[in-house]
Amino acid sequence: MSTAQFSPLRAENLTLGYEKKVVARDLSVAVPEGKVTVIIGPNACGKSTLLRTLSRLMQPQKGAVWLNGKMIGEMPTKEVAKQLGLLPQNSTAPGDISVADLVARGRYPHQNLFSRWRAEDTQAVEEAMRATGVYELADRLVDNLSGGQRQRVWIAMVLAQQTPLLLLDEPTTWLDIAHQIDLMELMCRLNQQNARTLVVVLHDLNHACRYAGHLIAMKDGKIVAEGAPADIVTPELIEQVFGLRCHIIDCPISHTPLIIPLGHGK
Ligand SMILES: Nc1ncnc2c1ncn2[C@@H]1O[C@H](COP(=O)(O)OP(=O)(O)OP(=O)(O)O)[C@@H](O)[C@H]1O
Ligand SMILES: [Mg+2]
Repeated sequence: MSTAQFSPLRAENLTLGYEKKVVARDLSVAVPEGKVTVIIGPNACGKSTLLRTLSRLMQPQKGAVWLNGKMIGEMPTKEVAKQLGLLPQNSTAPGDISVADLVARGRYPHQNLFSRWRAEDTQAVEEAMRATGVYELADRLVDNLSGGQRQRVWIAMVLAQQTPLLLLDEPTTWLDIAHQIDLMELMCRLNQQNARTLVVVLHDLNHACRYAGHLIAMKDGKIVAEGAPADIVTPELIEQVFGLRCHIIDCPISHTPLIIPLGHGK
């Protein structure tokens, strides 16, 4: 056994794509246990494709994903869903469903043919709705909510699943700045107090630097750099990954890299 940190979710030599289009080749990644891993990278570089593959929503064309040492492709759906919750980038609710009913769907993996709804299910749903600030919306129809409210309901559904691993694809989309910070802090609490391992795709580089324990920078289906934000984030890396020049200063609040874009003409 090597001394490398245990990874509850890892992928080896993945080829990812859609029909004939290849998005990534020879992509390997190991999610460190007990950390918040943030993935950054330009549009269309393959972040969502990777997240979908890690959560078995998509099959790799080559390579394999391992969840707690088991090949994910060979695991029963419910066993995967007890270990891993995914918030996809675009989620659409089935028509005419209430907030409470949608969040309750997160409890599906914990039910079996014979078990009825239990007190612990009600508690998990309530806790998830309170944590995301949607408890007061419980009886509303999901279709009638604002974009940000709806996004928080989806996050509540994933939280209600109560999995040790959480994969969130751009969870802060649609959220105002205060709700963005609330959510980032909620993720930190889940990580620190509840020992959850998180993998989060973010476009806000400063949030990424502030909240990531482990940062992965992707470009064109490849991992360009990974490590602690302070160790890897440089103007050269940002230019290489995003084609954007920037200044980097020390954030006076979190003492992590703070990226100030210069714009293309500067
Ligand atoms: N269902 C699909 N069918 C065909 N091509 C797809 C499909 N989904 C994504 N792609 C293509 O695969 C590539 C990677 O897409 P992906 O969604 O993984 O990017 P991303 O890094 O998540 O981008 P963004 O930041 O815009 O969300 C893109 O070129 C995209 O057009
Ligand atoms: Mg995406």
